[in-house]
Amino acid sequence: MKIGIIGSGTMGSGIAQVAATAGCKVKLFDTNQSALDKAKAALDKILSRLIEKDRIDGDEKIRIQSNISYVDDLKDLSDSDLTIEAIVENLDIKKKVFSELETYVSEHCIIASNTSSLSIASIAASLKRPERCIGIHFFNPAPLMQLVEVIPAIQTSKEVLEKSVKIISDWKKIVAVAKDTPGFIVNRVARPFYGEALRIYEEGIADFITIDESLKTLGGFKMGPFELMDFIGNDVNYTVTETVFTAFYFDPRYKPAFTQKRLAEAGYLGRKSGKGYYNYDKSGGIIIP
Ligand code: NAI
Repeated sequence: MKIGIIGSGTMGSGIAQVAATAGCKVKLFDTNQSALDKAKAALDKILSRLIEKDRIDGDEKIRIQSNISYVDDLKDLSDSDLTIEAIVENLDIKKKVFSELETYVSEHCIIASNTSSLSIASIAASLKRPERCIGIHFFNPAPLMQLVEVIPAIQTSKEVLEKSVKIISDWKKIVAVAKDTPGFIVNRVARPFYGEALRIYEEGIADFITIDESLKTLGGFKMGPFELMDFIGNDVNYTVTETVFTAFYFDPRYKPAFTQKRLAEAGYLGRKSGKGYYNYDKSGGIIIP
């Protein structure tokens, strides 16, 4: 099966690894050459670490790497059976890419988005054949997280839904089919987790380290909310909150926080930029401020 991935950032590169490990031929596309180079180098490092941990051998590393090619022209995805878009969380930009992509791919190609919060119906509306559009939402990091939400839009055909569920299950993921509503399942439940933590911080009730530690030690969470926002990226996480808030007609339960907005504006994106709520060393380890 031939898979085209659009956007080689955090999610696109992870999804490419998942598909290539499952034996698919993957083309990973990005408009930014340095993002492609970074994705290639990161995969090499991840696979080497898996060899050290005895999880794969050298042949497996070569097999996975040889299943991925890195391309800088959207036309290169023309022979895809499935494309998954993982670019910036912006409806207008996604729509533009989707309508261009449709002019290159064949009729049977499924066109999916990894969006966290945008309406699949509105993305599908940019296509001449919207019934081929679906949401396929991986979690970060895609190779480790078991769950994938599959979201049919009202335009999506039954056949495209069934095919998508089968492909993702074949990639050894657990599929949850959800309706096309803001945040789907997990991101909707997660909004108050970040939002309340930010409100507690902004009201001066506790500092963010105390909040994180409390939720980890007592709440049993693997990461506290601030650590997790830094891990996801404050730009991406803020945009998702803003989109969900707007899409639920400004329901105060989902209200975004200025604290995170300012971090995103300043480029303090979290682990990927080396600074967010916390500072990070080169290997991504937290430096407590
Ligand atoms: P990212 O910022 O790490 O990567 C985005 C990539 O898309 C960049 O490499 C950029 O160069 C590329 N790009 C931007 N515009 C493009 C265009 N027009 N054509 C081709 N490439 C383009 O973003 P990330 O975190 O991977 O998010 C991507 C999508 O996945 C978003 O829709 C986001 O909401 C969703 N998502 C993000 C998760 C996360 O934890 N970061 C989790 C699940 C979904």
